[in-house]
Amino acid sequence: MNELLRRAAEIARQILKHEEVLVVTHIDADGITAGTIAHTSLLRAGIESRIKFVKQLDEVEIETIKDKNTFVWFTDIGSGVIDLLEGIEFAITDHHVPQRSHPMQLNPHDFGYDGAFELSGATTTYLVSRYLRNGTTLFDYEIDNSDLLPISIVGAVGDLQDSRWGMLKGLNREIVMEGKRKGQIEIIRDLRFFGKQTRPVAKMLEYNSDPFIPGITGNEAGVLNLLDSLGVDPWVRWIDLEIDKKRKVVSALVGLAMDFGIPYTSILRMVGECYILINEEEGTEKRDAMEFSTLLNATARYNEAEVGMGVCLGDVRAYRRARTLLQNHRRNLSDGIKFVDREGIEELENIQYFHARDNIPDTIVGIVAGMCFYKGNREKPIVAFAESDKGVKVSARATYRLVEKGVHLAKALKKAAESVGGVGGGHSVAAGATIPEGKEDEFLKILDRVIGEQLKR
Ligand code: C5P
Ligand code: ZN
Repeated sequence: MNELLRRAAEIARQILKHEEVLVVTHIDADGITAGTIAHTSLLRAGIESRIKFVKQLDEVEIETIKDKNTFVWFTDIGSGVIDLLEGIEFAITDHHVPQRSHPMQLNPHDFGYDGAFELSGATTTYLVSRYLRNGTTLFDYEIDNSDLLPISIVGAVGDLQDSRWGMLKGLNREIVMEGKRKGQIEIIRDLRFFGKQTRPVAKMLEYNSDPFIPGITGNEAGVLNLLDSLGVDPWVRWIDLEIDKKRKVVSALVGLAMDFGIPYTSILRMVGECYILINEEEGTEKRDAMEFSTLLNATARYNEAEVGMGVCLGDVRAYRRARTLLQNHRRNLSDGIKFVDREGIEELENIQYFHARDNIPDTIVGIVAGMCFYKGNREKPIVAFAESDKGVKVSARATYRLVEKGVHLAKALKKAAESVGGVGGGHSVAAGATIPEGKEDEFLKILDRVIGEQLKR
């Protein structure tokens, strides 16, 4: 921990030597919050900062960045392609599996932490921002950027870092506890479903898919029946329900999940820690870290990451726009799930897959894959393809159980993608790749074999 913080301080010291920095960040909730933290703390330190959101760092993207001839701070991205960054002066704060360590890289993996759960792109970036103070500016030493802590937690939750144990662990935990001490964050034990702040209970239950509960998930009539039998008004928000009503709903859900043989660990994860951003208005997406992160995903994944950044910075117009985008995002997710229902999921020996072609945007096919997982075969990682302007986008998701059995998707996807002329990376439990068109079958064959080998070890 000390060594990691020393590295954070050193990287901050190096960044402060520059008058101008380009922040390059990833287009998801963790990336938007990471980029916002970097950008804001640079401006406060009197450094000119511009920000660029990227889907992934491929050679073409890296060339454009190189041409800008400026110091670059990569956030929530960069570690997987560090060898391609030659010729760029950079800092990296990322948590994806790194190619190797580097003095200007802060990555939990380099310090013995698991970047899938213990520190995200945003929380890693936050640790550097804490040291990014410049005594020569207007702000002097008054600001330690700790007001940016809550959005770093939104980033970690956006990357599902709390989902394995139903709570944040590792260095994320230290950060969230600091937020609690400072009165920025309240930690409550509650149902870990999306929409507790903003949606009627009926809709919250209908749209939840983790775990997939037959007769409830996607089933409005089933939900209304259940709530009626419990004497719960379906059209009030979860946050407005009395505690005994909440208890009734939770025990009914647990009972149903057990009846349907849903794995015990998935049932346990239904209830866990929820992170409330105390300074945000109650009943809005921004109040709850899970909902806030969905709101951000709904902007970035549709090419409006700047809107997401505006939301993080408290811009009211950006928030209004983001809510419109969220409706669109929800529709796309539900259409995506319906598509998979219609097309079905193919099984190979060690993996299962579907090809969305142009039916699901490549930017959300990973989210859809994760949601469909719960109705597919839980014993095999799920792989999804979608068309993208750079070839075929691949997204893969595993269960924690599979990871414990040896599956490491980032390693497997990297290997399989590179074998067919593509690129890939990410985390043990969630990873992505882009491969040339027409190479899907070859890719699947290699991936199936590699996952098989991982499981044998
Ligand atoms: O795009 P998707 O949501 O499937 O990505 C899953 C994870 O894999 C993300 O953390 C993403 O940053 C990572 N990824 C990667 N290299 C790629 C594609 C995705 O590291 N080429
Ligand atoms: Zn991330």
